[in-house]
Amino acid sequence: MRMKPTVVQGDIINIKADVLIVGHLEDGGKRLGGALEAVDAVLGGEIASAIASKETEGKWKTVLTVRTNGRMQVNHVVVVGLGTKKTLTAERVRQAAGLGFKVAKSLRATSVATVLMGAGRGEQDPHSIAQAISEAFLLTNYQFDTWKKKDEASPNPLIKKATIVELVSTKCKSALAGCEDGTLFAEATIVARDLVNEAPSHMSPAELKRSAEQIAKKSTNVSLKVLDRVAAKKRGMNAFLAVAAGSTTEPYFLHLTYTPPKPSKKSIVLVGKGITFDSGGLSLKPADGMMTMKCDMAGAATGLGVFSALQALQPNMTVHGLIATCENMPSGSAYRPGDVVRAMNGTTIEVLNTDAEGRVTLADALSYATELQPNAIIDIATLTGACVVALGEEIVGVMTDNDKLAERTLEAAYVTGEAFWELPLYPGYDCLIESKVADVQNIGINRWGGALTAGLFLKKFVDATIPWMHLDIAGPAFAEREYLSYVPYGGTGAGVRTLLQLLKDYK
Ligand code: BES
Ligand code: ZN
Ligand code: ZN
Repeated sequence: MRMKPTVVQGDIINIKADVLIVGHLEDGGKRLGGALEAVDAVLGGEIASAIASKETEGKWKTVLTVRTNGRMQVNHVVVVGLGTKKTLTAERVRQAAGLGFKVAKSLRATSVATVLMGAGRGEQDPHSIAQAISEAFLLTNYQFDTWKKKDEASPNPLIKKATIVELVSTKCKSALAGCEDGTLFAEATIVARDLVNEAPSHMSPAELKRSAEQIAKKSTNVSLKVLDRVAAKKRGMNAFLAVAAGSTTEPYFLHLTYTPPKPSKKSIVLVGKGITFDSGGLSLKPADGMMTMKCDMAGAATGLGVFSALQALQPNMTVHGLIATCENMPSGSAYRPGDVVRAMNGTTIEVLNTDAEGRVTLADALSYATELQPNAIIDIATLTGACVVALGEEIVGVMTDNDKLAERTLEAAYVTGEAFWELPLYPGYDCLIESKVADVQNIGINRWGGALTAGLFLKKFVDATIPWMHLDIAGPAFAEREYLSYVPYGGTGAGVRTLLQLLKDYK
């Protein structure tokens, strides 16, 4: 059982824990103020003198650890820099808190207390700070250890207890709500992380189906429809099934539906790319390019993470979740470069590279989404290496013709602290995917603008009248190194928190 963070009303000075984390604003003024000042007084001015000697200045991403030697009921006080008040955001607090939790872990702490860092002089609101700290705790404390020996003494044991301490009761109340939201968002993110991190031999399409079944079973207002190969064939999903053809694992088309408690005419469709392993198929990837390709179902994982939280989030609209899941493998039955397949919406695709398989499966999933006639369609996919070249490892590529949808999404991403950036669906590049023999080809005529030609390809399978947005998470879905304190190596759950925020705010 994963430990949830809690909020308690009380004085930080009397708190019992292994480690106490407090924030330090760079330009907080002569007096330290808040929790920092109270703690400094008990520690006989030790923090103030560390500041005077410039050991710590509250600079962003810095940390100072002080032993209390029995002067408090915590063993260590960890002072994390918050940077200047002007640059302070909830996301900065999330990262600073994550750093604090990491230091606490390295001190082998099992219980950690902290305060609403930045909600005093930093003037951030208690709800978002409590949410940020709760997310930082659960996401920093996350570990994928399914395949590790259990008796092995871990170098960094997990923190079992995290408490946010606040003196003022009104702040406590909003902090409690923020803590609950943060726990919900982080746990949904962890659902996605676990799915991505599992070995691809175990995370088969059937396993993704099982995971969807579990979510539907747990939530009374979520139902699941499954199409197997035969049923998918009947629906005309030839593009999806072409990608599945090379593998011995059975493909599945998953359709989750969340129905709000109060009936609503509004509906939104989330589509997740669900390639459980992308070898490239006959257009085989080089060995290095394959090493992280268990992450190619991260879009599906994000969708499932979101669905795991919908019962609690209760958005006021119908939400559909679509996943066309299969494995992309080379074999005697695999689809070939040169093949032409007819997608569910009648559009024919010339397959010139079997490694551009995600868009081929999404062609059918988006056609199916269009038939549902929703108010919006959002697909989320580890679609192109080109997007990683364009935006780097940390940023989600956003492509849409709908300014309103883009604006809402970027606003939600700002709140959650996830980095999203818009790329153009430049119609001038449509000619790059014109096929000589079919309606469209699945790669551009050259590699330039590869993220954009992929987006333009997807657009051909959505009705122009339905607002649609494509999210390319090829970079941020899988962290090959720990670039943020609360993002450890492996599956990140990219997009889960932002999509939940978007659904929460959606009117
Ligand atoms: N799954 C990959 C994209 C990817 C790359 C995801 C790196 C995560 C990290 C996708 O199916 C793919 O192979 N795309 C090709 C497209 C090319 C053949 C046009 C690519 O990006 O090289
Ligand atoms: Zn591929
Ligand atoms: Zn792929």
